[in-house]
Amino acid sequence: MLNWDDPLAGLTPRSNPPANTALTLALETFVEPAPTPEPLATAARPDSIVPATGATGLENIEMGARRIQVDDKRIINCRADLNQLVPFKYQWAWQKYLDACANHWMPQEINMNADIALWKSADGLTPDERVIIKRNLGFFSTADSLVANNLVLAVYRHITNPECRQYLLRQAFEEALHTHAYQYVVESLGLDEGEVFNMYREVPAVARKAEWALPFTQYLADPYFKTGTPENDQKLLRELIAFYVIFEGIFFYVGFTQILSMGRRNKMTGTAEQFQYIMRDESMHMNFGIDVINQIKVENPHLWTDGFKAEMVQMIREAVDIETQYAYDTMPRGILGLNAPMFKEYLQFIANRRCAQIGLPEQYPGASNPFPWMSEVLDLKKEKNFFETRVTEYQTGGTLSWD
Ligand SMILES: [Fe+2]
Ligand SMILES: [Fe+2]
Repeated sequence: MLNWDDPLAGLTPRSNPPANTALTLALETFVEPAPTPEPLATAARPDSIVPATGATGLENIEMGARRIQVDDKRIINCRADLNQLVPFKYQWAWQKYLDACANHWMPQEINMNADIALWKSADGLTPDERVIIKRNLGFFSTADSLVANNLVLAVYRHITNPECRQYLLRQAFEEALHTHAYQYVVESLGLDEGEVFNMYREVPAVARKAEWALPFTQYLADPYFKTGTPENDQKLLRELIAFYVIFEGIFFYVGFTQILSMGRRNKMTGTAEQFQYIMRDESMHMNFGIDVINQIKVENPHLWTDGFKAEMVQMIREAVDIETQYAYDTMPRGILGLNAPMFKEYLQFIANRRCAQIGLPEQYPGASNPFPWMSEVLDLKKEKNFFETRVTEYQTGGTLSWD
């Protein structure tokens, strides 16, 4: 059993987390000691509080300098004023922000009554089905917090473009909504919260994926980590691939498929509906991340070396093995017309797509998709009138009254 305070074994070759290698999100270890504030005697800023380089976007602003030009903008290591959203350079980032806002939803809107009745009935669900529901709530309830912390504490600092940051802010809120949704399901079903929320410490199948991801956040959240050298820029690129392509693009898909499959068989339909909306959000997160990764490659071709590509391929192959193991651990026997070997094939099919999307060679020739219906679920346009209805409700419910 995993002991939360044990050092992470076997993770150092890839990640080398800077100081604290314990499997913990003791985020205080990431925060620099607060300096003793001293009143500024003059209006001039002392040089000592202006880092030579930095990622907040606030370090290098020169008031009175010329206006921002589109060509000044870069995804990483940008020296231009990051407080100005326009002029847009990366229209795709702004468009994804608009699309995400148009797809807004809230967990409490989804009716959970049928799930509650089914969960409480003695023979409504098999023991294997109950395991799948609980394991996935255990994984996802903390996975989305890991992603949110990674975004806010690590990624945001190093992405030096305002339209991308605008999307990151939206994504961060969506991750909060996802954690909220899982908590809402746990509460609705009356599950043991301690059991569910501690699975990422206590259940190896769940813990393994968190263990894999945590060092990346620890590295980039280190206050002394700065981009601007090829080595550190590759660390950022590696971390973006780890979270957007692997964590959100591979590690979520056994769970999504299992729960959505349950919904297709008219079981736990409220929970499945929550997962369906979450998966749509996650699909957009991943596509945004892939656009960012590819744009960094265009602007910094020296980072995309043969050695780095080989390392990324290896990382993706390792992730497929970890997620395949998750399928076997959560589904030791066939259930709902699914079995673990089908997931192995599905993960290989997904991994081929992920590789192609970021310009890596496909790794699993001939892998096919045993769950073609998953692609349809992801196709936002096929869902009739869902978002139109929701948007109207928000516009009505959100109207301010001044009476
Ligand atoms: Fe999420
Ligand atoms: Fe996400």
